[in-house]
Amino acid sequence: MIEQLEELRARALEELGRIDDLTRIEEWRVSYLGRRSELNQILRGMGTLTPSDRRAVGQIANDVKSVLEGESAARRAQIETMLRQAEIDREHVDVTLPPRPMRLGQWHPLTMATRDIISAFRTLGYDIVEGPEVEWEKYNFEMLNIPAEHPARDVWDTFYVKTSDGASPGKMLLRTHTSPMQVRVMERRRPPIRVVVPGRAYRYEATDATHESEFYQIEGLAVDEHLTFADLKGTLTAFAHAIFGPERRTRFRVDFFPFVEPGAEMAIDCHVCRGAGCRLCKSSGWIEIMGAGMVHPKVLEGVGYDSASYSGFAFGMGPERVAMLKYGIDDIRLFKNNDLRFLRQFAQ
Ligand code: DAH
Repeated sequence: MIEQLEELRARALEELGRIDDLTRIEEWRVSYLGRRSELNQILRGMGTLTPSDRRAVGQIANDVKSVLEGESAARRAQIETMLRQAEIDREHVDVTLPPRPMRLGQWHPLTMATRDIISAFRTLGYDIVEGPEVEWEKYNFEMLNIPAEHPARDVWDTFYVKTSDGASPGKMLLRTHTSPMQVRVMERRRPPIRVVVPGRAYRYEATDATHESEFYQIEGLAVDEHLTFADLKGTLTAFAHAIFGPERRTRFRVDFFPFVEPGAEMAIDCHVCRGAGCRLCKSSGWIEIMGAGMVHPKVLEGVGYDSASYSGFAFGMGPERVAMLKYGIDDIRLFKNNDLRFLRQFAQ
């Protein structure tokens, strides 16, 4: 029995020495120290021994048991340390590695163009005001001298908005331009007036490279005593120089808009070919950038201004178009695609 115990101890310790994971050490414990282990069987069989043999064998058996318990606990601790070290090595952070680049947000090119345009007018003494995108037909058309059935209404294909009760004082629509704000501002203020109105407008139109059904406009209005077409030209030329460069030349040609008389279209000389003719200016050397004109007397009278004492000029432009010209963008739809490859090109 004593030999059996010694053989058992040697075998158990030898096996223990080869174990290097926690599952196998538990299996080892069950098989050498568990209830059904050889050791336990030996201890249980001791009843048949003489009292003196029993003491001798019992002592050795207890010895073996405590050696195996002690050794296995030590081995378990060793394995745990090894595993922890391996984990630490695996998760090691190299603080000397270069950091990942940090991505900063930036302004949208349309926001930048809008701000540039607005601040050009702010330096000329203009206020910035905003107004409703859902508008009464009265402001969008009638008070701008565009009565119902007037052929000019065809220019502005309109989204009408359903009004829930029949009692509403007219039709509502999504404004087709920012010009209704001319009327709203004149109703609220007395001259002198100098305002620019950035905002969204809508047209019931197919989308292509230069048109969208939802787009921005920036409207301008000045009303005062003695304002003339020369003031209009001077103001818009100063604006063109601020946005497109001080060497730009401007051209004003007659155009028709019902709410101005005379009406004009303003162009700048093509900054790509400098007038020689290219794709951007369609070989004309000139690029149209906005509509403008002297506020029509009917519009002034409509808000109760005396058109003999006051005159004004107005203008309207598309910031998308200004941004496209300024940054050389050839498709208006790019602004709203949210393609970061496009947007990142305009980092300030
Ligand atoms: N509202 C016009 C449009 O959307 C643009 C415009 C033309 C505005 C002449 C004006 C103006 O203020 O005087 O087509």
